[in-house]
Parts: sequence; C-alpha cells; structure tokens
Amino acid sequence: MATPSRKDKRSRATAAPAVRVVHRPDSPGSPLHVQVHRQLRELILGGALRTGARLPSARALARDLGLSRNTIEAAMSQLRAEGFITRRVGSGTVVTAAGGDAAPFARTAADTRTVPTTARLSRRGTLTARLGIAELEEDRLSSAGATDVRGFPSETWRRMLSRRARDGGASVLRSANPFGLEALREAVADHVQLARGARCDASQVVIVNSTQQALDLAARILLDPGEHAAMEEPGYPSARAALAAAGAVVQHIPVDEEGLQVAALARRSRVRLAYVTPSHQYPLGMTLSLPRRLALLQWAAEGDRWIIEDDYDSEFRYARHPLAALQGLDRHGRVLYVGTWNKVLFTGLRLAYLILPPALVEPMAAARRVTDGFSSPLLQSVLADFLAGGHFAAYLRQARAHYESCRDTLVAEIGARWGDAVTIGPCDTGLHLVVHLRTAADEARLARGAKGHGLVISPLSRHYAGEHKARGLLVSYGGANPASIRRAVVELAPHVTRSRARA
Ligand SMILES: Cc1ncc(COP(=O)(O)O)c(C=O)c1O
Repeated sequence: MATPSRKDKRSRATAAPAVRVVHRPDSPGSPLHVQVHRQLRELILGGALRTGARLPSARALARDLGLSRNTIEAAMSQLRAEGFITRRVGSGTVVTAAGGDAAPFARTAADTRTVPTTARLSRRGTLTARLGIAELEEDRLSSAGATDVRGFPSETWRRMLSRRARDGGASVLRSANPFGLEALREAVADHVQLARGARCDASQVVIVNSTQQALDLAARILLDPGEHAAMEEPGYPSARAALAAAGAVVQHIPVDEEGLQVAALARRSRVRLAYVTPSHQYPLGMTLSLPRRLALLQWAAEGDRWIIEDDYDSEFRYARHPLAALQGLDRHGRVLYVGTWNKVLFTGLRLAYLILPPALVEPMAAARRVTDGFSSPLLQSVLADFLAGGHFAAYLRQARAHYESCRDTLVAEIGARWGDAVTIGPCDTGLHLVVHLRTAADEARLARGAKGHGLVISPLSRHYAGEHKARGLLVSYGGANPASIRRAVVELAPHVTRSRARA
C-alpha cells in the first residue's frame, strides 16, 4: 500500500474545530489561550475530535479563529503536555489514543441528565448535612454577630500583612504546626491571663480557625456517639449543631437570672460535657453567678466531666468589674476555654483559640492534624504582630467606645419609642441585647423589618430547642451606628406597639 504523501496527510486535517473565544479587552476573563485549550480539550473528551483526527496547523487555526499564532501555540503546547495530542514535523497535530480513550469520561448534555441529584450519605453524613442546612438557613435569615468592619484599622493590617508576606520567608509559606504559631500562642496566653483572669501558659494554647472548629474538635475527641452533652436553653444554635453532629444527645438545661441552673444539670446524670457561656449567656445576656460557677466546676471535677467555656465577646464589656473566666477558677483541669478573634476583630479573619487542660493539648492538636491540619501561618504571624505592636489594645479602646454609644442609643431609643411593650435584658457586654416582647408583635416580621438599618434582629424563639419559647428579639448592633439605630427603632415602633391590644 502506498504511503500517503505529506500533501494527502494535510488534506485529511479536520476543518477548523468549533472553537469560540470571547474577546473582552476590558474584562479580566479567561485568557484567550486558556479558552482555546479548554474548548479543544472538551471536543476531544466529548468524542467530537476522535483518536487519530488531525487538527489544522497552528497558523491555519490562528487565521480561522482570528487569533494570534502565539495564542494557538500556547493552547496546543498545553494539550500536548497533557497527552491529548501529538505534534510531529511532517505529520502535523494528531489527537492521541490517550485523548480518545478519555472520551467515555467526558460529560455530555445527555450524561448530565443521568447524574443523580441526591447522593446516598452515611448516617453521620445525613445528620451533619441536616444540621448544616438548618444553620445555613439561619445565616440567611440573620447575621447576628457581624461586627462593624468600618472602624477596623485596615491600613495598619494591610501594611503588616504585606510586610509579613514579603519578609516572612518560608515560615509564612510552608506548613505550620497544628498547635499554632509560637508567638501567637504566647500573645494569646498573655491576653487571656491579663484581660480574662485565665490561668495558663502558652503550652496550653491551641490556635484554631473558629469557635465552631473548636467545638467540633472538642466534641469529637471527648464524646462517643450516643453520649450526652448539655447546653443552656435558650442557647447558641451553632453549638447545638456541633454537638449533635458529633453524635451527642444534647440535653437542654434552663437558665435563670443567675445563668445555667446547675442543679438541673446535675440531675441529668448521663451528661459528660457541658457547653456554657458564663460571661455573657448567649443569647439572654446574664452572667453566671459565682456560686453557680463553683457548683459547675464541682460537678465536672467529681464526675470526670468536661466544661466548654465559650467566652465569645467579653472584650466588649461596658461595666467596670467583669467576673473572671471560669477557667481561672478551675483547679481540676476540667475546663476547655474558647475565645475568638473573629468577633472582636473581623468575622472573615478565621482565627480563634482554645486554652486546654494539659492532658488535652496533644489529642486536640492531633485531631486538628487529621482534619484540616493547621491555621494559616501568614495570618497567625500578622495577628501576633498586631497584638505585640499594641494595635489591638488601641483598636479595642476605640471600638468599645463606639459600641457602647450604640448600646446606649439602642437602650434609650427602645425605652422612649417601644415603651412598656417591651423589657430589655442585661446588656453590659457584647454586641447584642435581647428585647422581651410583652405584645403579640410578630417576631419574624420585625426581624424582616430591621433589614437595611445596620441592625440585625432575629427572633429569640430560634434559640430554643424545646417547646417552651419566650417571645422576644435578639437585636445585634455590631454593624450599626447611633443614627441608623434611631431610624430603625422609630420605624419598627408601630409594629412593636400596635399589637399591644392583641396581646
Ligand atoms: C455564642 C457565640 N460563640 C462564638 C461565636 C464566634 O464564632 P466563630 O469564632 O465560630 O466565628 C459567636 C459569633 O457570633 C457567638 O455568637
């Protein structure tokens, strides 16, 4: 059989493939060679360009597509490096068998219809997904806890970030250890001892991304599925989700004006771990009294039980004499203290910390190692610089004054406009307060009505797990200012008070 001449070979080249590129000189979209590469690869994978098919020369393709030859060359080089084509002088560019063999894996329009829309999850996966979806829905409805990033010294942060990125060398680029950066662990230990009366040294600090991650890890290493954990009722829904996702049976313990009813907790004999917010009960706002603190520590010590202390917003304390952290009173190594930078600095930071009893440090770091490894060394080093440079202390002074004036405005305006239709819960700390409704006002409607004023309102009922739900509003003012607060309170007043007659 006669071998085909070069001319014959060229004449068998396919016509220019159906590649369409989008020129957007004014937009950063995908570069042209990436678009060409991607589309040719899809044509090969989809079987439109079969094994052995010959592609036009780069020059011909460039002409047909109205692109530069360099663009086509770049796309072809990539396809060749991936093994989709071979290019030989004299025989042109040919789709390889390897490329053709990949065709069955290509996704076609018909395939898309057969891709299942549901997946069979494990029991744990089903539970976690269900809890997570409920949490996503919560996020959509409210974003309680968001802080006002406008006051944050972004310029200082940016300078420190770029200095670290530039001069930090390998230490900020390579992997970090799961315990956290030494300088940050030390700064955290100093901070919690000075500001919160905790008792620890840096070796007890483990840096994590968030309170949520701390709860997830703690629940995994301390509880077996089916074991009982307790939390306050009403309480922090995300903590409930983390405990339940670990397979714990969550018991809900009522609170009163002294905080968690420890006697009620002690009656639930199967509880092995209690999650509490002693400094600022979430969401109602009271402080766990000293006798209750001592009783709680006693409960843990005598039954080999654990306490997770979530100290999420104590930095924003407006009254003079804060009660020290529960952790500082713990003589038996039963308290896992969790603090977060995401609330006091900015939500997107994703850095928080655990102060652990010595026996839990290694297991916690090991658990971290097998989940997501470690927190960003770059951000950890910038935060350590920010703390060491005194910027945090300066920012906190100014932020506290701002939030205090928001709190004062909110309390005064509610008192003046909503009158005896409501009572206001304790509000010495934090970025939210609870308004108890004495009318039949629609909580959900008020929550919707607050949107756009910087205030975030969420129905108090969402924070209850049980049947009995007090009626009220959780009002977060972290993203507001006194003027927007005044407007919101005035605008919502008729909805709060009008329904008084129906109460
Ligand atoms: C009770 C409570 N704990 C912790 C946090 C902070 O959580 P994270 O560090 O997971 O962002 C919040 C935030 O709003 C909170 O309300």
